[in-house]
Formats: sequence, structure tokens, C-alpha cells
Amino acid sequence: MRTNWKLELTKEEMQTYGYQVVDAIVAHFDTQNQKLPVAQASRAEMDHLFLEEAPEKATSAKEVLDFVLDNVMTQSQIVSHPKSFSFVPGPSNYISAMADTLATGFNIFSGGWAASPAAAELEIITVGWLLKIFGFPKKKGGGIFTSGGSMANLTAVATARRIKCGEDFSKAVIYLSDQAHSSNIKAIRVLGFRKEQIRIIPTDGEFKFALNKLKNAIAKDQLDGLQPFCLIATAGTTNTGTVDPLTQLSKICKEENIWFHIDGAYGGAAILAKNGKQLLKGIEKADSLTVDPHKWFFQPYEMGCLLVRNHKWLKNTFTEKPEYLRDIEGNESEINFYDHGIQLTRRFRALKFYMSIKTFGLKAFRKAITYNCDLAEKTEKILRKSKQWEVVSPATLAVINFRYNPMSHNFSEKELDDLNQYISGKVVNSREALLVTTVLNKQVVLRMCLINPRTTEEDVTQTLALCEKYAQEKLTV
Ligand SMILES: Cc1ncc(COP(=O)(O)O)c(C=O)c1O
Repeated sequence: MRTNWKLELTKEEMQTYGYQVVDAIVAHFDTQNQKLPVAQASRAEMDHLFLEEAPEKATSAKEVLDFVLDNVMTQSQIVSHPKSFSFVPGPSNYISAMADTLATGFNIFSGGWAASPAAAELEIITVGWLLKIFGFPKKKGGGIFTSGGSMANLTAVATARRIKCGEDFSKAVIYLSDQAHSSNIKAIRVLGFRKEQIRIIPTDGEFKFALNKLKNAIAKDQLDGLQPFCLIATAGTTNTGTVDPLTQLSKICKEENIWFHIDGAYGGAAILAKNGKQLLKGIEKADSLTVDPHKWFFQPYEMGCLLVRNHKWLKNTFTEKPEYLRDIEGNESEINFYDHGIQLTRRFRALKFYMSIKTFGLKAFRKAITYNCDLAEKTEKILRKSKQWEVVSPATLAVINFRYNPMSHNFSEKELDDLNQYISGKVVNSREALLVTTVLNKQVVLRMCLINPRTTEEDVTQTLALCEKYAQEKLTV
């Protein structure tokens, strides 16, 4: 292949190269279950492999591709592996991976209507699907796809501040629980709020927003002449999958004229589970809702989403009218998504959501999510039956926390923390499963997030057996 300064390839070269790339992706999907999910490498090892000056001279495309396939793609955790249990796994799906490839291949600008009416229309349509799924007003409601949950939360807090405070937010106060995701704090800080404007409300024994403590905090702030303007609830906390008392929180917000944002980045998708409407009761009452299709809607990175009750809130917050965009403003119904969020140039995220839902049908998503919740409940039963394990937080929206705590021993809390940390370290070092710890009630626990529809009960029991093997190893030393 002769590369050149116009960065062009011949048609045949593009085909050959493209088929190699697709073959590699297909092989990955086909064989990932047999691989080890964990990748571990030090900075020194990575430097040794990759460190070089930007090369002036060309290298053969095949050589670069082979090098990348051998050294880059093999040095990442396989977040879609059935034994990738930690953080929030990314189960993904092939149709969406190909849709992303199409969106990139055609380099579609998904900022304004004039540049790509079809991309804007597909975002309107797919956001509409989500509005309906979450019981938001279909006509008045709106939303936007973002890079992920963090950006959706940032977009939400910026909108809440604009609508509730206008220009002056010096007295504004925002409330969230001690289990809220860190991206919310990041968003609040990025927007220039001072630490004194943030209230972290403790959670109760079930890791839910403690309502009385919240009410007291709001009342105190009002007495002090401050402006409670926004509350962030969580529908599916990252640690335990817990859903805050959404209906009661929405009532408080309504009474106190507070913006009600729900961070459903992790758990929102559970609305599609068999009893999802019950689990997430009150989610439809949010002023704004973050959902994160690159988590439990099985989309590849990056795809988050913010939904709002009134699409005008986004437009009123983010519209700027520079002279160089005057010719593409269009009319009201032809949405320019650059006016509804932070990004001007945006990739075409709606395409993968559209194509995967059309191809598999929403029913498949409902089945997969229901399966995930059921598997977590089965895991809880398995753990509860054993004399070795203690369930620390029950299976909730496919998350479960537990620790090795054999009834035959009388360990101190410190010994249990060390033991469970040891188990996790050994499992991860074995690379057989990704199972890391979190801390709940000051205890080190193992956390399993079971949102991969390809994870089987056997994957779970094999991993528990591996944990038990390492526990025994530690106890016999
Ligand atoms: C509840 C919650 N909110 C927000 C986020 C951040 O989302 P992202 O990583 O897509 O930016 C996460 C990520 O795990 C999450 O669990």
C-alpha cells in the first residue's frame, strides 16, 4: 500500500484493510468468552512497547494494524466478558459496534439539522422512545445524547441552575446523598459552585436518601436565606443498585420549588425489567433524568443521555447565536442539537441505539435486563445457602455485595477486610475474573454487577469457587 499526503488509499486497499479490521472485531466477539477478562501492565511495560517520537516516515498499514491488534487490543480489560463483574461492565453488542463504525466511516456531523437532517431526526426519534419508556411527557419532553453519564449529569445541573437561578447562583444550594455518583460532584464543581453550596445528605440503613435529614437541611438553608435549587436522587446507586425514594423526593422538590434530577445512569435501564416500573416508581416525576445507554442498554462507549420534561429548558440553557451559524438555524421543529447541550461537533450516537433496537427489538432488551436481575437474585440465594459467605447488600438492580465470612471463624472486622481484599487481589491477579471490592458500612466487600446477558450461573459459581480457593489459601498460611 502506497500512502500519500492526501491520506488516501485505493478502493482495493481500503477493502482489504477494512475486511481485516472487521475480521478482527468478529474474532473478538466470537472468542471473548474464552479469553481472560483482566489486563495488567505497568507504565514501564507500556512505555517499552509504545514509546517513540511521532514518525515522519510512513509504515505499511498492515504492519501498523497487526501491531495494534497484537499489542493494543490485547492490553485492555474485556469489559464485555461474562466474568467482568466490577464497576459497571460494558456488555455492548455487535450491531451497535458496526453502527458506530458506519457513523465514523461516513463522519456524520450530528450537531445541526442542516448538516444532517436524518441524524437529527433519528436522535429526536430515539430520544422519543426513551421519553416514552420512562413515562416522560412525549410532546413537551426532550433530551440529548451525550458521551456518557458524567456529561449527562453536567448538562442536567447546568440546565437546573439556568432555569432555577438565572444569572445569580451565589446563594444556590444543591442536595445529593452520600451514595450519589462522584460525577455529580464533579459536575457541580466544574460549574463553579463552592463547596459550601453542596449538601451531602447521609443515607439510611438501606443506602437510601434519609428523608428527615434532607428536610432538616433544606429548612435550615431556607432559614439562612439560601436558595435550595436542585436535588440529585439516584435510581440505581453504583455501590448497591439502590433506588432512592423517588416519589417522596419528588414531593419535597415540588413543595420547595427544587429541581428534581435523577441520576439513572446505572439503574435506569431496569425500567425494562419485568417489574421495572415498580422498582423505579417515581422516575417519571423527574425534571431531568440521566440514563446511560453504554451501560445496561448494551451500547458500546460512548453514549449517555439526558431526558428533560420540557425540551425548551435545554434550548434556553444552551443556545448561543454566533454569526457563523446563522445560515443553519432552521425552524423550531428541526432541532439543532448543538443548541440543546454543550457540544457543537457531535458524533452520530443515535445511530447505534436506533439500529440495535430495530434489529433485536425492545423485547430482547426487556428479556436481557430481566435475566440480569434474576441472575443477581439467584446469586444471592447461592451465597445465603453457604456457611462461608455473608450477603452485605441484597441483589438490587443486578448488583450484589458480599464478603467471605465463614461461620466457623470469629474474625475481627479488620481480619475480614484484609481477607476479602486478599481474595479480590488474588482473583484479579489470576485474570480469570474481574471482581474488585468496595466499602459499605466501613466494611470491605466484594461487589458483583451482573448486567451482562451472556454471564451464566456457572460463571458466577466458578468465580465464587475461585474466591473460596484463595480464602482457604490465606487461612491455611
Ligand atoms: C450512577 C452513576 N452515575 C454516573 C455515572 C458516570 O457515567 P459515565 O461513566 O458514563 O460518565 C456512573 C458510572 O458508573 C454511575 O454509576
